[in-house]
Amino acid sequence: MLATLPFSLNFVHPLLMGLLLAMGGYAMFLGIKTKKVRTGTAEQRKALLPGKFAQRHYFWGSMLLALMVFGSLGGMAVTYLNNGKLFVGPHLLVGLAMTGMIAGAASLSPLMQRGNVIARKVHVGLNMGMLTLFLWQVVSGLQIVNKIWTNS
Ligand code: HEM
Ligand code: HEM
Repeated sequence: MLATLPFSLNFVHPLLMGLLLAMGGYAMFLGIKTKKVRTGTAEQRKALLPGKFAQRHYFWGSMLLALMVFGSLGGMAVTYLNNGKLFVGPHLLVGLAMTGMIAGAASLSPLMQRGNVIARKVHVGLNMGMLTLFLWQVVSGLQIVNKIWTNS
C-alpha cells in the first residue's frame, strides 16, 4: 500500500455503498407506490396521490444514480491508488455493470413520463436486476474489506 494514502479512506466506499443499498430499497418502495398510483382503483389512487410518490421516486432515484456513479468511480480510484493497478475481478465488473444499468434505466425517464410502456418495463427490469446484483456485490465487497483489514 502507498504510505501516503490514509487507511480510513478504504472505508469510505464500503460505508457509502451500505447507505446506497438502503436508499435503493427506499427508491424501490417509492417506485412500486408510483405504479399503484397509476394502476390502482379510483379509491386507491385518491388515497395515494397526496404522497407525491412519482416525484419522490424521481428525486431519490436521481440521488442514487449520482452517488452510485461517484461511489463506484471512487472505489476504482482507491483501488488504483493502493495498488497502482485495478483488479479485473467480479467486484469491479459487476460494479460497472450495475452503474451502467442504473444509468441506462434513468435515461428512460422522459419516455416513461410520456407514458411509454416499453420504457417502463425496461426501466423496472434493469433496476430490479441492478438491486439483485447489489446483494451479491455486498458479499464480494465485504470480502475485499476483509482482505484490506487482514493485510494491513
Ligand atoms: C432502485 C432503483 C429503481 C427502481 C427499483 C425503480 C422502479 C420503478 C418502478 C417500479 C416504477 C413504476 C413503473 C410503473 O408505473 O409501471 C418506476 C417509475 C419511474 N422511475 Fe424508477 N426505479 C429506480 C430508479 C430510478 C432512477 C435512478 C430514476 C431516474 C433518475 C427513476 C425514474 C423513474 C421515473 C421518471 C418513473 C416514472 C414515474 C411516472 O410515472 O411519472 N427511477 N421506477
Ligand atoms: C456494501 C457493499 C460494498 C462493499 C462493502 C464494497 C467494498 C469495496 C472495497 C473495500 C473496494 C476496494 C477499494 C477501497 O479500498 O475502497 C471496492 C472497490 C470497488 N467497488 Fe465496491 N463495495 C460495495 C458495493 C459496491 C457497489 C454497489 C458498486 C458499484 C455499483 C461497487 C463498485 C466498486 C468498484 C468499481 C471498485 C473498484 C474495483 C475493485 O477494487 O474491484 N462496489 N469495493
